[in-house]
Amino acid sequence: MANLQTAIQPNDLRPGFEFETIFQTNRKSESAFRFRARHINGRRAPKVILCNDGRVQPGKPCQVRIRNIRKPDSRQRGYIEVDFLRQRGFQLDDKIYVDPLQLRKLQALLESGMNILLDGPQGSGKTVLSRKVAEALGMNYIFFNCSAIYEATDFLASLQIRAGASGQAETVWIPTDILRALEAAHANPAQRYLIFLDEFNRCREMARNGIMPALDSTRKLYNPISGSMLHIPPNVMWIAAINNGAQFTGTTHVDPAQMDRFAPLKMDYPPPEEEIRLLAAKYPRASRKEIDRIVRAANAIRKDEALQVDLSMRATEEACTLLEHPNFAEATGDALVDILKTSFCGRYLGRWDDETTDAGMIWQVIVRALEI
Ligand SMILES: Nc1ncnc2c1ncn2[C@@H]1O[C@H](COP(=O)(O)OP(=O)(O)OP(=O)(O)O)[C@@H](O)[C@H]1O
Ligand SMILES: [Mg+2]
Repeated sequence: MANLQTAIQPNDLRPGFEFETIFQTNRKSESAFRFRARHINGRRAPKVILCNDGRVQPGKPCQVRIRNIRKPDSRQRGYIEVDFLRQRGFQLDDKIYVDPLQLRKLQALLESGMNILLDGPQGSGKTVLSRKVAEALGMNYIFFNCSAIYEATDFLASLQIRAGASGQAETVWIPTDILRALEAAHANPAQRYLIFLDEFNRCREMARNGIMPALDSTRKLYNPISGSMLHIPPNVMWIAAINNGAQFTGTTHVDPAQMDRFAPLKMDYPPPEEEIRLLAAKYPRASRKEIDRIVRAANAIRKDEALQVDLSMRATEEACTLLEHPNFAEATGDALVDILKTSFCGRYLGRWDDETTDAGMIWQVIVRALEI
Protein backbone atom coordinates (compact mmCIF):
# COMPACT_ATOMS: atom_id res chain seq x y z
CA MET A 1 0.00 0.00 0.00
CA ALA A 2 1.27 3.45 -0.83
CA ASN A 3 2.29 5.52 2.17
CA LEU A 4 0.40 8.74 1.53
CA GLN A 5 2.82 10.77 3.61
CA THR A 6 5.99 9.68 1.77
CA ALA A 7 7.14 12.39 -0.60
CA ILE A 8 7.97 11.49 -4.21
CA GLN A 9 11.67 12.05 -4.92
CA PRO A 10 12.63 14.61 -7.58
CA ASN A 11 14.50 11.89 -9.51
CA ASP A 12 11.24 9.95 -9.98
CA LEU A 13 9.87 12.80 -11.99
CA ARG A 14 10.58 13.75 -15.59
CA PRO A 15 8.73 15.38 -18.49
CA GLY A 16 6.10 13.02 -19.88
CA PHE A 17 5.35 11.42 -16.49
CA GLU A 18 1.59 11.18 -15.92
CA PHE A 19 -0.12 11.27 -12.55
CA GLU A 20 -3.30 12.17 -10.71
CA THR A 21 -3.65 15.30 -8.64
CA ILE A 22 -6.18 17.77 -7.27
CA PHE A 23 -5.74 21.47 -7.98
CA GLN A 24 -6.82 24.47 -5.99
CA THR A 25 -7.08 28.00 -7.30
CA ASN A 26 -3.68 29.69 -7.09
CA ARG A 27 -4.08 32.61 -4.73
CA LYS A 28 -0.83 34.25 -5.84
CA SER A 29 -2.22 36.92 -8.11
CA GLU A 30 1.19 37.63 -9.69
CA SER A 31 1.59 33.98 -10.80
CA ALA A 32 1.14 33.08 -14.48
CA PHE A 33 -0.56 29.84 -13.37
CA ARG A 34 -4.16 29.77 -12.27
CA PHE A 35 -4.04 26.42 -10.46
CA ARG A 36 -1.68 24.82 -7.97
CA ALA A 37 -1.53 21.36 -6.44
CA ARG A 38 0.67 19.64 -3.82
CA HIS A 39 0.19 15.91 -4.42
CA ILE A 40 1.22 13.30 -6.96
CA ASN A 41 -0.96 10.18 -6.89
CA GLY A 42 -1.87 11.00 -3.30
CA ARG A 43 1.74 11.55 -2.12
CA ARG A 44 3.32 14.83 -1.21
CA ALA A 45 5.11 16.34 -4.22
CA PRO A 46 8.68 17.67 -3.79
CA LYS A 47 7.73 20.91 -5.55
CA VAL A 48 4.53 22.76 -6.13
CA ILE A 49 2.58 21.61 -9.24
CA LEU A 50 1.29 24.38 -11.47
CA CYS A 51 -1.14 24.40 -14.35
CA ASN A 52 -2.89 27.08 -16.35
CA ASP A 53 -5.47 25.04 -18.23
CA GLY A 54 -9.01 26.40 -18.03
CA ARG A 55 -10.45 22.87 -17.99
CA VAL A 56 -9.09 22.25 -14.49
CA GLN A 57 -11.84 22.02 -11.88
CA PRO A 58 -10.50 23.05 -8.49
CA GLY A 59 -11.10 20.36 -5.86
CA LYS A 60 -11.71 17.52 -8.34
CA PRO A 61 -9.16 14.83 -9.22
CA CYS A 62 -7.62 15.02 -12.67
CA GLN A 63 -4.92 13.34 -14.73
CA VAL A 64 -1.95 15.50 -15.80
CA ARG A 65 1.38 15.08 -17.61
CA ILE A 66 4.64 16.83 -16.68
CA ARG A 67 5.69 19.40 -19.27
CA ASN A 68 8.60 20.93 -17.44
CA ILE A 69 10.45 20.78 -14.14
CA ARG A 70 11.81 24.18 -13.16
CA LYS A 71 14.79 24.24 -10.88
CA PRO A 72 14.83 26.92 -8.19
CA ASP A 73 16.88 30.01 -8.97
CA SER A 74 17.56 33.32 -7.30
CA ARG A 75 14.23 34.72 -8.52
CA GLN A 76 11.84 31.88 -7.80
CA ARG A 77 11.34 28.53 -6.15
CA GLY A 78 11.28 25.38 -8.29
CA TYR A 79 7.99 24.04 -9.60
CA ILE A 80 6.49 21.31 -11.77
CA GLU A 81 4.57 22.56 -14.78
CA VAL A 82 1.96 20.12 -16.07
CA ASP A 83 -0.48 19.73 -18.96
CA PHE A 84 -4.05 18.87 -18.09
CA LEU A 85 -5.10 15.53 -19.63
CA ARG A 86 -8.56 14.70 -18.31
CA GLN A 87 -10.91 15.00 -15.43
CA ARG A 88 -11.16 11.78 -13.39
CA GLY A 89 -14.58 10.31 -12.82
CA PHE A 90 -16.62 12.57 -15.12
CA GLN A 91 -20.17 11.69 -14.15
CA LEU A 92 -23.59 13.01 -14.96
CA ASP A 93 -26.25 12.37 -12.34
CA ASP A 94 -28.71 9.51 -12.80
CA LYS A 95 -31.58 11.88 -13.66
CA ILE A 96 -30.37 11.88 -17.25
CA TYR A 97 -29.76 8.99 -19.61
CA VAL A 98 -27.03 9.24 -22.24
CA ASP A 99 -26.06 6.28 -24.40
CA PRO A 100 -22.75 4.93 -22.93
CA LEU A 101 -20.91 5.22 -26.24
CA GLN A 102 -22.05 8.82 -26.73
CA LEU A 103 -21.12 9.56 -23.13
CA ARG A 104 -17.54 8.41 -23.72
CA LYS A 105 -17.40 10.53 -26.85
CA LEU A 106 -18.85 13.48 -24.96
CA GLN A 107 -16.21 13.26 -22.26
CA ALA A 108 -13.42 13.10 -24.84
CA LEU A 109 -14.84 16.10 -26.70
CA LEU A 110 -15.21 18.11 -23.51
CA GLU A 111 -11.62 17.39 -22.58
CA SER A 112 -10.40 18.44 -26.01
CA GLY A 113 -12.25 21.74 -25.62
CA MET A 114 -14.05 21.31 -28.97
CA ASN A 115 -17.41 22.88 -29.73
CA ILE A 116 -20.15 20.25 -29.55
CA LEU A 117 -23.31 20.05 -31.65
CA LEU A 118 -26.12 18.02 -30.10
CA ASP A 119 -28.34 16.71 -32.84
CA GLY A 120 -31.49 14.79 -32.04
CA PRO A 121 -35.28 14.68 -32.17
CA GLN A 122 -37.43 16.92 -30.00
CA GLY A 123 -37.50 16.04 -26.32
CA SER A 124 -34.51 13.69 -26.42
CA GLY A 125 -32.59 15.50 -23.70
CA LYS A 126 -30.32 17.96 -25.58
CA THR A 127 -31.11 20.96 -23.42
CA VAL A 128 -31.08 18.91 -20.21
CA LEU A 129 -27.73 17.36 -21.16
CA SER A 130 -26.06 20.73 -21.72
CA ARG A 131 -27.14 21.84 -18.24
CA LYS A 132 -25.93 18.61 -16.64
CA VAL A 133 -22.54 18.92 -18.35
CA ALA A 134 -22.10 22.39 -16.86
CA GLU A 135 -23.07 21.06 -13.41
CA ALA A 136 -20.74 18.06 -13.67
CA LEU A 137 -17.80 20.25 -14.72
CA GLY A 138 -18.54 23.09 -12.30
CA MET A 139 -19.04 25.57 -15.14
CA ASN A 140 -21.22 28.66 -15.24
CA TYR A 141 -24.13 27.88 -17.55
CA ILE A 142 -25.51 30.36 -20.08
CA PHE A 143 -28.63 29.36 -21.96
CA PHE A 144 -29.15 31.26 -25.20
CA ASN A 145 -32.05 30.66 -27.54
CA CYS A 146 -31.01 31.42 -31.11
CA SER A 147 -34.52 31.46 -32.57
CA ALA A 148 -34.84 35.19 -31.83
CA ILE A 149 -31.65 36.04 -33.77
CA TYR A 150 -32.18 38.09 -36.93
CA GLU A 151 -28.89 39.95 -37.35
CA ALA A 152 -25.34 38.74 -36.90
CA THR A 153 -24.83 41.28 -34.11
CA ASP A 154 -27.86 39.96 -32.16
CA PHE A 155 -25.67 37.33 -30.54
CA LEU A 156 -23.95 40.02 -28.48
CA ALA A 157 -26.39 42.90 -28.26
CA SER A 158 -29.75 44.10 -29.43
CA LEU A 159 -30.86 47.61 -30.29
CA GLN A 160 -33.86 48.72 -28.31
CA ILE A 161 -35.86 51.94 -28.12
CA ARG A 162 -36.55 53.50 -24.75
CA ALA A 163 -37.64 56.85 -23.37
CA GLY A 164 -34.69 59.12 -22.53
CA ALA A 165 -34.54 61.50 -19.55
CA SER A 166 -36.44 64.20 -21.43
CA GLY A 167 -39.03 61.74 -22.67
CA GLN A 168 -37.45 61.60 -26.13
CA ALA A 169 -37.18 58.19 -27.74
CA GLU A 170 -33.58 56.96 -27.86
CA THR A 171 -31.99 53.77 -29.11
CA VAL A 172 -29.69 51.83 -26.81
CA TRP A 173 -27.67 48.65 -27.12
CA ILE A 174 -28.71 45.99 -24.62
CA PRO A 175 -26.01 43.36 -24.06
CA THR A 176 -27.14 39.73 -24.40
CA ASP A 177 -26.39 37.01 -21.85
CA ILE A 178 -23.60 35.86 -24.20
CA LEU A 179 -21.85 39.24 -24.06
CA ARG A 180 -22.26 39.42 -20.29
CA ALA A 181 -20.80 35.91 -19.97
CA LEU A 182 -17.83 36.73 -22.23
CA GLU A 183 -17.07 39.82 -20.16
CA ALA A 184 -17.38 37.79 -16.95
CA ALA A 185 -15.07 35.13 -18.43
CA HIS A 186 -12.43 37.80 -19.12
CA ALA A 187 -12.78 39.16 -15.60
CA ASN A 188 -12.68 35.71 -13.92
CA PRO A 189 -10.14 33.53 -15.74
CA ALA A 190 -10.28 30.84 -13.02
CA GLN A 191 -13.98 30.23 -13.68
CA ARG A 192 -15.36 28.39 -16.69
CA TYR A 193 -18.37 29.22 -18.81
CA LEU A 194 -20.50 26.95 -20.95
CA ILE A 195 -22.61 28.81 -23.49
CA PHE A 196 -25.46 26.71 -24.82
CA LEU A 197 -26.80 27.86 -28.20
CA ASP A 198 -30.22 26.27 -28.23
CA GLU A 199 -32.27 25.97 -31.43
CA PHE A 200 -29.14 26.80 -33.40
CA ASN A 201 -30.84 26.02 -36.72
CA ARG A 202 -33.81 28.25 -35.98
CA CYS A 203 -31.99 31.54 -36.48
CA ARG A 204 -31.52 33.15 -39.88
CA GLU A 205 -28.72 31.50 -41.79
CA MET A 206 -26.97 34.80 -42.56
CA ALA A 207 -27.22 35.86 -38.93
CA ARG A 208 -25.61 32.59 -37.84
CA ASN A 209 -22.55 33.52 -39.86
CA GLY A 210 -22.00 36.24 -37.28
CA ILE A 211 -21.00 33.74 -34.66
CA MET A 212 -18.76 31.62 -36.89
CA PRO A 213 -15.49 33.37 -35.98
CA ALA A 214 -16.24 32.71 -32.30
CA LEU A 215 -16.36 29.00 -32.98
CA ASP A 216 -13.17 28.49 -34.96
CA SER A 217 -9.56 29.19 -34.16
CA THR A 218 -10.15 32.93 -34.72
CA ARG A 219 -12.14 32.96 -31.44
CA LYS A 220 -13.29 36.52 -31.95
CA LEU A 221 -16.68 38.20 -32.22
CA TYR A 222 -17.65 41.66 -33.38
CA ASN A 223 -19.03 43.60 -30.44
CA PRO A 224 -21.47 46.21 -31.82
CA ILE A 225 -21.44 48.15 -28.56
CA SER A 226 -17.70 48.85 -28.52
CA GLY A 227 -17.33 48.58 -32.31
CA SER A 228 -14.33 46.29 -31.89
CA MET A 229 -13.55 42.59 -31.99
CA LEU A 230 -14.02 40.79 -28.70
CA HIS A 231 -11.66 37.90 -28.00
CA ILE A 232 -13.27 34.69 -26.71
CA PRO A 233 -11.17 33.63 -23.72
CA PRO A 234 -10.12 29.97 -23.34
CA ASN A 235 -12.37 29.47 -20.31
CA VAL A 236 -15.45 29.65 -22.57
CA MET A 237 -16.86 26.61 -24.35
CA TRP A 238 -19.79 26.28 -26.75
CA ILE A 239 -22.46 23.63 -27.09
CA ALA A 240 -25.21 24.04 -29.70
CA ALA A 241 -28.37 22.02 -30.31
CA ILE A 242 -30.36 21.43 -33.47
CA ASN A 243 -33.37 19.39 -34.59
CA ASN A 244 -32.24 17.96 -37.90
CA GLY A 245 -34.85 16.58 -40.27
CA ALA A 246 -37.30 17.44 -43.00
CA GLN A 247 -40.22 17.32 -40.54
CA PHE A 248 -38.96 20.41 -38.72
CA THR A 249 -40.40 23.50 -40.30
CA GLY A 250 -39.03 26.83 -39.11
CA THR A 251 -35.48 25.52 -39.18
CA THR A 252 -32.77 26.80 -41.51
CA HIS A 253 -30.01 24.82 -43.12
CA VAL A 254 -26.75 24.70 -41.18
CA ASP A 255 -24.24 24.71 -43.99
CA PRO A 256 -21.22 22.38 -44.04
CA ALA A 257 -18.80 25.15 -43.05
CA GLN A 258 -20.92 25.96 -40.03
CA MET A 259 -21.31 22.26 -39.17
CA ASP A 260 -17.57 21.77 -39.52
CA ARG A 261 -16.89 24.00 -36.54
CA PHE A 262 -18.57 21.48 -34.25
CA ALA A 263 -18.03 17.88 -33.27
CA PRO A 264 -21.50 16.35 -33.74
CA LEU A 265 -23.04 14.17 -31.08
CA LYS A 266 -26.19 12.23 -31.99
CA MET A 267 -28.88 12.06 -29.34
CA ASP A 268 -31.87 9.73 -29.29
CA TYR A 269 -34.63 8.72 -26.91
CA PRO A 270 -33.55 6.55 -23.99
CA PRO A 271 -34.15 2.80 -24.44
CA PRO A 272 -37.51 1.69 -22.92
CA GLU A 273 -36.06 0.32 -19.67
CA GLU A 274 -34.17 3.58 -19.07
CA GLU A 275 -37.18 5.76 -19.89
CA ILE A 276 -39.24 3.67 -17.43
CA ARG A 277 -36.55 4.14 -14.77
CA LEU A 278 -36.41 7.92 -15.34
CA LEU A 279 -40.20 8.29 -15.27
CA ALA A 280 -40.61 6.06 -12.18
CA ALA A 281 -38.04 8.17 -10.32
CA LYS A 282 -39.64 11.46 -11.37
CA TYR A 283 -43.27 10.38 -10.84
CA PRO A 284 -43.18 8.15 -7.74
CA ARG A 285 -46.98 8.23 -7.33
CA ALA A 286 -47.66 6.90 -10.84
CA SER A 287 -48.16 3.13 -10.94
CA ARG A 288 -45.27 1.18 -12.42
CA LYS A 289 -47.65 -0.86 -14.54
CA GLU A 290 -49.05 2.29 -16.13
CA ILE A 291 -45.59 3.76 -16.73
CA ASP A 292 -44.70 0.53 -18.55
CA ARG A 293 -47.75 0.98 -20.77
CA ILE A 294 -46.93 4.65 -21.48
CA VAL A 295 -43.42 3.76 -22.59
CA ARG A 296 -44.62 0.76 -24.61
CA ALA A 297 -47.05 2.99 -26.51
CA ALA A 298 -44.41 5.71 -26.99
CA ASN A 299 -41.91 3.27 -28.43
CA ALA A 300 -44.46 1.71 -30.75
CA ILE A 301 -45.05 5.21 -32.18
CA ARG A 302 -41.34 6.08 -32.43
CA LYS A 303 -40.49 2.80 -34.12
CA ASP A 304 -43.43 2.65 -36.54
CA GLU A 305 -41.95 2.55 -40.04
CA ALA A 306 -45.08 3.85 -41.76
CA LEU A 307 -45.56 6.81 -39.42
CA GLN A 308 -41.94 8.05 -39.32
CA VAL A 309 -42.61 10.44 -36.44
CA ASP A 310 -40.80 11.31 -33.22
CA LEU A 311 -42.46 11.48 -29.84
CA SER A 312 -40.83 13.73 -27.28
CA MET A 313 -40.12 12.54 -23.75
CA ARG A 314 -42.17 15.57 -22.78
CA ALA A 315 -45.18 13.54 -23.97
CA THR A 316 -44.39 10.55 -21.73
CA GLU A 317 -43.72 12.96 -18.83
CA GLU A 318 -47.00 14.74 -19.46
CA ALA A 319 -48.88 11.42 -19.39
CA CYS A 320 -47.25 10.58 -16.03
CA THR A 321 -48.08 14.02 -14.61
CA LEU A 322 -51.75 13.52 -15.47
CA LEU A 323 -51.76 9.93 -14.28
CA GLU A 324 -50.47 11.00 -10.86
CA HIS A 325 -53.12 13.68 -10.47
CA PRO A 326 -56.05 12.76 -8.18
CA ASN A 327 -58.47 13.57 -11.02
CA PHE A 328 -57.10 10.60 -12.93
CA ALA A 329 -55.63 8.46 -10.14
CA GLU A 330 -59.10 8.16 -8.62
CA ALA A 331 -61.00 7.78 -11.89
CA THR A 332 -62.71 4.51 -12.65
CA GLY A 333 -61.87 2.64 -15.85
CA ASP A 334 -58.74 2.92 -17.94
CA ALA A 335 -57.68 6.55 -17.31
CA LEU A 336 -54.56 6.12 -19.42
CA VAL A 337 -56.60 5.61 -22.58
CA ASP A 338 -58.03 9.13 -22.30
CA ILE A 339 -54.67 10.59 -21.31
CA LEU A 340 -52.92 9.18 -24.37
CA LYS A 341 -55.58 10.54 -26.70
CA THR A 342 -54.49 14.05 -25.71
CA SER A 343 -50.89 13.68 -24.46
CA PHE A 344 -49.77 11.58 -27.44
CA CYS A 345 -52.31 11.98 -30.28
CA GLY A 346 -52.94 15.65 -29.44
CA ARG A 347 -49.38 16.47 -30.53
CA TYR A 348 -50.16 15.64 -34.16
CA LEU A 349 -52.47 16.99 -36.85
CA GLY A 350 -56.09 15.82 -36.89
CA ARG A 351 -58.13 13.87 -34.37
CA TRP A 352 -57.54 10.58 -32.58
CA ASP A 353 -60.84 9.20 -33.94
CA ASP A 354 -60.15 10.15 -37.56
CA GLU A 355 -57.92 7.50 -39.11
CA THR A 356 -57.24 9.63 -42.17
CA THR A 357 -55.20 12.06 -40.01
CA ASP A 358 -51.80 11.70 -38.30
CA ALA A 359 -53.43 11.74 -34.85
CA GLY A 360 -55.81 8.97 -35.91
CA MET A 361 -53.01 6.81 -37.30
CA ILE A 362 -51.07 7.28 -34.07
CA TRP A 363 -54.11 6.23 -32.07
CA GLN A 364 -54.25 3.00 -34.09
CA VAL A 365 -50.61 2.29 -33.24
CA ILE A 366 -51.42 2.82 -29.52
CA VAL A 367 -54.45 0.52 -29.76
CA ARG A 368 -52.30 -2.25 -31.22
CA ALA A 369 -49.40 -1.74 -28.79
CA LEU A 370 -51.58 -1.76 -25.66
CA GLU A 371 -54.20 -4.19 -27.00
CA ILE A 372 -56.97 -1.74 -26.10
N1 LIG B 1 -32.11 11.44 -22.11
C1 LIG B 1 -32.92 11.96 -21.18
N2 LIG B 1 -32.69 11.75 -19.88
C2 LIG B 1 -33.51 12.28 -18.95
N3 LIG B 1 -34.57 13.06 -19.22
C3 LIG B 1 -34.84 13.31 -20.50
C4 LIG B 1 -34.03 12.79 -21.55
N4 LIG B 1 -34.53 13.20 -22.71
C5 LIG B 1 -35.59 13.96 -22.41
N5 LIG B 1 -35.79 14.04 -21.09
C6 LIG B 1 -36.89 14.76 -20.41
O1 LIG B 1 -37.66 15.36 -21.43
C7 LIG B 1 -37.76 16.77 -21.26
C8 LIG B 1 -37.35 17.48 -22.53
O2 LIG B 1 -35.95 17.35 -22.72
P1 LIG B 1 -35.09 18.48 -23.42
O3 LIG B 1 -35.72 19.80 -23.22
O4 LIG B 1 -33.68 18.33 -22.98
O5 LIG B 1 -35.25 18.03 -24.93
P2 LIG B 1 -34.53 18.61 -26.22
O6 LIG B 1 -33.83 17.47 -26.87
O7 LIG B 1 -33.75 19.80 -25.86
O8 LIG B 1 -35.82 18.98 -27.08
P3 LIG B 1 -36.04 20.14 -28.18
O9 LIG B 1 -35.36 19.66 -29.42
O10 LIG B 1 -37.51 20.16 -28.34
O11 LIG B 1 -35.47 21.40 -27.64
C9 LIG B 1 -36.85 17.15 -20.12
O12 LIG B 1 -37.55 17.93 -19.20
C10 LIG B 1 -36.42 15.85 -19.48
O13 LIG B 1 -37.08 15.70 -18.26
MG1 LIG C 1 -34.07 21.85 -26.28
